[in-house]
Amino acid sequence: MTVSSIVLSAGKGTRMQSELPKVIQKVCDYEMVNMVLKSLSDAGINKNYLVVGYKKDEVINSIDPVYDFDHIEQKEQLGTGHAVKIAYDKLHKIDGITIVTCGDTPLITSNSFKALIEHHKSTKSDLTVMTAKVNNPFGYGRIVRDDNDLVSSIVEQKDANEEVLLINEINAGVYCFDNKKLFNYINSIDNNNSQNEYYLTDLVKIFNQSDERVSAYVINDATEILGVNDLKALSDASNILKTRINNNLLLNGVNIVDINNTYISPVAKIASGTIIEPGCTIKGYSVIGNACHILANSYIDNSTIKNNTSFGPQAHARMNTLIGSNCRVGNYVELKNVVLGDDTKVAHLTYLGDATLGNNVNVGCGVITANYDGVTKSKTVIGNDVFIGSNSNLIAPCTIGDRAFIAAGTTVTRDLDVETFAIDRNDLRLKTRRYDVKN
Ligand code: UD1
Ligand code: MG
Repeated sequence: MTVSSIVLSAGKGTRMQSELPKVIQKVCDYEMVNMVLKSLSDAGINKNYLVVGYKKDEVINSIDPVYDFDHIEQKEQLGTGHAVKIAYDKLHKIDGITIVTCGDTPLITSNSFKALIEHHKSTKSDLTVMTAKVNNPFGYGRIVRDDNDLVSSIVEQKDANEEVLLINEINAGVYCFDNKKLFNYINSIDNNNSQNEYYLTDLVKIFNQSDERVSAYVINDATEILGVNDLKALSDASNILKTRINNNLLLNGVNIVDINNTYISPVAKIASGTIIEPGCTIKGYSVIGNACHILANSYIDNSTIKNNTSFGPQAHARMNTLIGSNCRVGNYVELKNVVLGDDTKVAHLTYLGDATLGNNVNVGCGVITANYDGVTKSKTVIGNDVFIGSNSNLIAPCTIGDRAFIAAGTTVTRDLDVETFAIDRNDLRLKTRRYDVKN
């Protein structure tokens, strides 16, 4: 059976008070809509239709290329019902199930998407609404049940009377539809409501009028359905996701010393036996092997660290840096687009950019690869077993052969053959210091 998804992502998100389209605002440094696509993909749903509108190119360009999707343009945002209506041409002939979900609901897990589909099938429903029971239902659509405990309607906050406002079961904005029935009824939605919008939620009533079965799948963990409509909710969602990521890593043997103060991307991978000290940020598709020690306040952005390496405190790796096994990268070291071989040490106060270093290289304190001459960026290539003395500069492009030795304070302006000893130092001149003793 075909399972498709429609991800509603066309709105501006006025309540965010930002020019950035809402669905590409980030939680834990990953766009909300990408979080939704990740959960769908982890649930095995890869036929995704993204409804885009406001700044559509910006939204499309922000989609992580690992996800398959097709987009449909909603030129005017006339409501969630209208957003699905315009998918008619692309979808109405498909036999199967369609999940409709929102790009502003980033915390729904793949397990919940799977459970929604299972519930839909086992109850032989035509429409299943994901719901949650919450203490504060303000702002969400309320679930009205009939005598058989099925869903008879969903009433939006702005259209609800006092009795309905007391209902604490809310609409998550996630639905599982029989696809043919969805598109059979979609044109029956009108915009006779307080917001003059086409509400997708009106389909519940319309399905009931035609004796189609509408059930609810109540999610256990209500935090999953948090819909982000303002910056406060964005920050809440980020915090919930951060705790989820960190707890999950703890369960998998990664020792996160302070889960409140460690920021790890939802798509990063860290192996067991690794310790992460407080204040670290690990962004994007970073990968950290096992038995590593990431010391306090380090920043790792789309970079890889192999096994048994220590990194930090206060170290920075970015732009696809690849650090080998058994390395030591120490404090105030910045690595940009660097490859470090195994057993290599860069222990203090160093900048390496656009450089490849072999195995067992020792980089002294304060070494710099001068990779930029104001116009172009150039590469530095360093072989195995090289020793680079403290406070040396390597002016790129530059290649250093295996086992070369660069004495402290040397500025290397040309390539060095294997086993070269390079020293660039003025003679030390000694004179007597003039020292006036005051008083
Ligand atoms: C919606 C539901 C509400 C539910 C809540 C859950 C309706 C009418 N209401 O309300 O019952 O409790 O989600 O979070 O559906 N969008 C479009 N095109 C449009 C309008 C919206 O693509 O014309 C997209 C938005 O970009 C957003 C999503 O649909 O990603 C939801 O829209 P939003 O305006 O946030 O709906 P809510 O008021 O949160
Ligand atoms: Mg919303």
